[in-house]
Amino acid sequence: MATRFAQRVLQPSNHVLSVKMPAKSTNRKKSPLLSPFPEGWYFVASRKSILKEKLIQKTWLGEEIVAWCDGAGRICVAVAVCPHLGSELGPAAGGRVSDGCLVCPFHGYEFDVSGQCVATPFAAAPKAAKLKVFETREVLGMIFAWWGIDGRPSQWSLPEDPPASADWCELGFRTLRFAGHPQETSENAVDLAHLRYVHGYDSVQRVEPVTVDGAYLTSCFDFKRTQTIAGIIDITFDVSAMTHVLGTGYSFVEIHERSIGMDARLWVLATPVDGTLIELVLVSQVRQMRNPKRPIVGLRFVPLRFRARIMNRILMTAQKQDVMQDVVIWSRKQYRSRPRLCRSDGEIGVYRRYCKQFYPDHEDSFQDGPVDRVAEHGEAPP
Ligand code: FES
Ligand SMILES: [Fe+2]
Repeated sequence: MATRFAQRVLQPSNHVLSVKMPAKSTNRKKSPLLSPFPEGWYFVASRKSILKEKLIQKTWLGEEIVAWCDGAGRICVAVAVCPHLGSELGPAAGGRVSDGCLVCPFHGYEFDVSGQCVATPFAAAPKAAKLKVFETREVLGMIFAWWGIDGRPSQWSLPEDPPASADWCELGFRTLRFAGHPQETSENAVDLAHLRYVHGYDSVQRVEPVTVDGAYLTSCFDFKRTQTIAGIIDITFDVSAMTHVLGTGYSFVEIHERSIGMDARLWVLATPVDGTLIELVLVSQVRQMRNPKRPIVGLRFVPLRFRARIMNRILMTAQKQDVMQDVVIWSRKQYRSRPRLCRSDGEIGVYRRYCKQFYPDHEDSFQDGPVDRVAEHGEAPP
């Protein structure tokens, strides 16, 4: 239960870190203004993990869903309830994948990746037997599904894959679970003041104003971050970050580190689980550095092909540290529909108005209140 934690932080290895949270930390239910399931594309799983596990089941935006892949590589994400007599279809109930079809554990109905029942053991497949399936998109092997208001189809798309040359190391994944809301986690992309105050970044500077084009928002800023490597050496990273936000479930950050000349990509993928918890998946990759601008401690003798992977691990560690600092705040905060903003808040008002489109009545994500108009229109932090 989210209401009493030991909050669990899950890692890919199933290693569980515990972050002690006070029982009082679940005041999210006291914030009725923010509907828990904004419309958008939300991460389901990586293709790799679906292929490995064959059939995945999870709680996703308040529903039990399953995901599997057929022999042609087509992936299906569907509600985990059989249209015959309602059996659950996930592996825990005995659901399985056979010849690319999902087989119900109760009477053996078989469903192809379109969700259609194509066979039963004892009679012809009833045409009306069809799973409720979700639209899916894939970005570099990350599988997303569309969650629409009242089941409506996708209103916008996710971007094409970014260039995936051999220069880029494979994606690294970290998964965290905590009480929170995806709008509030994505809000950090425009909340530059917290970068200094919570994370201790220096020289935080907005490079360009936040832009909004339908469901697409960009936020571009620079900062410096000092990190201790191996517990002894402090390295200062001089970072330029370009954040591409598409709804509350998808944030993609292009990172350029100037002092070394390193390029990295980060994805921050927030998915509501059950209306209280969210799953935050952090994904990253680093581009191979053939000629780093300055020597990187300990990497000089590492073969070239391993360097990007090692830097990705360092990046993931830094990213996780930062996010854990945010989790302490996120899991205890209340949503304020009328935030009392100040000049250093940058474009939070712009972001809140952008988010309105993801809610059924376009009203519950942000109520215009007596906020500081200068701050609302976006001024870089002093
Ligand atoms: S409930 Fe699924 S086949 Fe009967
Ligand atoms: Fe943060």
